[in-house]
Amino acid sequence: MIYVVAAIAGIAGLLFGFDEGVIAGALGLLRAQFGITPLDEGLITSAVPFGALFGAILAGWLAKPAGRRSLLLFAAVLFVAGALFAALAHAAWVLGIARLVLGFAIGIAAMIAPLYISESVPAARRGMLVSIYQLAITLGILGAYLVGYAFSESWRTMFAVGMIPGLALFVGMMFMSDTPRWLAMRGRRDEALATLAKVRGVPKTDPAASAELAEIVRTAATDSRDDKGKLAELFGPVARPALIVGMGLFLLQQLSGINAVIYYAPTVFQLAGFDSAEIQILATAGIGVVNVLMTLVGMALIDRIGRRRLLYIGFAGAAFSLGVIAIAAASGSPDLGILALIGLVLYIASFAASIGPLPWVMMSEIFPLNVRGPGMSFASLANWGFNFVVVFSFPVLVADIGLAGVFGIYAVVCVAGLVFTRLYVPETNGVPLEDIERHLQSGRPFRDLAPAAGR
Ligand code: GLC
Repeated sequence: MIYVVAAIAGIAGLLFGFDEGVIAGALGLLRAQFGITPLDEGLITSAVPFGALFGAILAGWLAKPAGRRSLLLFAAVLFVAGALFAALAHAAWVLGIARLVLGFAIGIAAMIAPLYISESVPAARRGMLVSIYQLAITLGILGAYLVGYAFSESWRTMFAVGMIPGLALFVGMMFMSDTPRWLAMRGRRDEALATLAKVRGVPKTDPAASAELAEIVRTAATDSRDDKGKLAELFGPVARPALIVGMGLFLLQQLSGINAVIYYAPTVFQLAGFDSAEIQILATAGIGVVNVLMTLVGMALIDRIGRRRLLYIGFAGAAFSLGVIAIAAASGSPDLGILALIGLVLYIASFAASIGPLPWVMMSEIFPLNVRGPGMSFASLANWGFNFVVVFSFPVLVADIGLAGVFGIYAVVCVAGLVFTRLYVPETNGVPLEDIERHLQSGRPFRDLAPAAGR
């Protein structure tokens, strides 16, 4: 059952990545067919993160009254409808609206799927499953690039393929029940126990299952305090350092320019001087492969070398490789194409092993239990908000200040990431969540948190 739960969440991650990446292969064809301006291009592309911002807000409100399962079913319907609508679009603005719907669905799924996993599986498996989710996102991006390569003549087919994982999510969720925690919160204790026993693979009479349910009911009760009080607490002195780190890491992750590359990779290669559309898409697929492989490397490293050190390596590598591209572009180097290719591969590698997964992992660790839900919502909103800013502004910025200027800005952000890590980010590696919370309550600087000796 745990694997089924993980598979469901994996499909949500795949959809997330697919709908982010699919536009990369389609843009060239759309430019030719609809004659769109840089502004239109920014609007159509960034409709996904813009819609996601609202999906995430809605999901935050409705997770409790509507339940996790209904929201995932709703998102699945939107995924299918949005993909169909995009595939049939007869004008650029219709495509923009279809992508807004898809983004809305991603915002919901990206918020609810991790919640669904963490409420369904034993605590010891949580970390691994959060990582599987990030891996699924990168696989979705790669899948979109491969679809873009296979159907390079037809943007309609590219979008239509997105219906398949959407349908899979719908059918899969039809057979699942809601999480034990949500059922318990609604007072449906029998169903909660039945579900819990099923996911744990034990009979309903198992004493460990009833004990776990009792614990869930107890923590769910502390969770039902009013939301206004929670917001005050989130911005209060104890939780504020966690909020700064959670939102700050996502701000830096996004403003490092990752999605300018993910959404516009073929365009970047074209600007760097690769004329053949086939080579642009092939190089893009290469980016997708490196993204997946280095995410695996990052997953292996996170618990070994620690969060802070991994962030230093990631931001330093990203700043360096983005700087190389910016300088090559500014100096009008005849080797810009090849330097951009090497630079982008290095950049994606640095990102995928570090800046990509770490904010997701730390967002699930740093918030005190009381405000973990709203804290994670704010962090996700930062993710989508700054994702939108970067993706929307990219075509217009390139037209205004050129590739050198844009990548120069992203490089500076990565340098700022080094400073931010030094000043604010705590080392949470191997620290029990209770110790993180106790440290925040002590009022000492968050970055001074250190794994106790011998742990
Ligand atoms: C992270 C980012 C997401 C990005 C992805 C690339 O998950 O949050 O915006 O597209 O990494 O792999």
